[in-house]
Amino acid sequence: MNKGILIAFEGSDGAGKSTALRALAAHLEEEKIPFITTREPGGSPLAEKIRALLLDPENEIDGRTEALLYAASRRDHLKSTILPAMEQGKVVLTDRFLDSSLAYQGAGRELGEDVVEQLNDFGLEGFRPDAILFYDLDPQIGKARIEARGDMNRLDMESLAFFHRVCDGFAGLLRDHPDRYIVIDASQSMDDVAKDTIEKTDEILRQAGYGR
Ligand code: TYD
Repeated sequence: MNKGILIAFEGSDGAGKSTALRALAAHLEEEKIPFITTREPGGSPLAEKIRALLLDPENEIDGRTEALLYAASRRDHLKSTILPAMEQGKVVLTDRFLDSSLAYQGAGRELGEDVVEQLNDFGLEGFRPDAILFYDLDPQIGKARIEARGDMNRLDMESLAFFHRVCDGFAGLLRDHPDRYIVIDASQSMDDVAKDTIEKTDEILRQAGYGR
């Protein structure tokens, strides 16, 4: 049996990563590769409760509290959902993981990427995804997509300045650690984004010993 792997989907809001994740899931289904899909914040019963707190527009949450809540939800997600699935040899596809905290809390909330990484490492104990797909999109286009979608959560309602800090945070991570990410051009049509996602993941899966 294969050792399971974790693939994280990252990017700013409106980049189309959730749609790409669904397209990949359908492909894995066809290929009969065992997988689960999950998301952050959330992904386990306890972490979903923390998600509800985090995304509720009624809650006023200071930056450090927010970072701690994301880190706590991630720890539970890892222990309760990700590691057990990996132990069963499954491919785990997660909509967001650690890098979202580095960009949103580290850069967006201006807490600093290193501090946020250390905070998360208390929960992750050095665990990292096997691959990170980064959906790269011009911030202006991303913001317009979220607004067109309506139904904004607490973080979607943040100022344009916050949104730009998050995008700059991701851009900085990409610049500083180019080998950590597989970059997907999210300005393409959704069909092409999905196709790119499947092609690039097939390569990762082959290397990990899945499929043909
Ligand atoms: P969600 O509705 O899932 O948005 P999206 O579809 O864009 O992922 O809400 C998740 C929000 O939480 C999103 O605005 C990004 C934010 N977030 C953080 O600020 N830090 C984190 O560590 C994670 C995982 C998400």
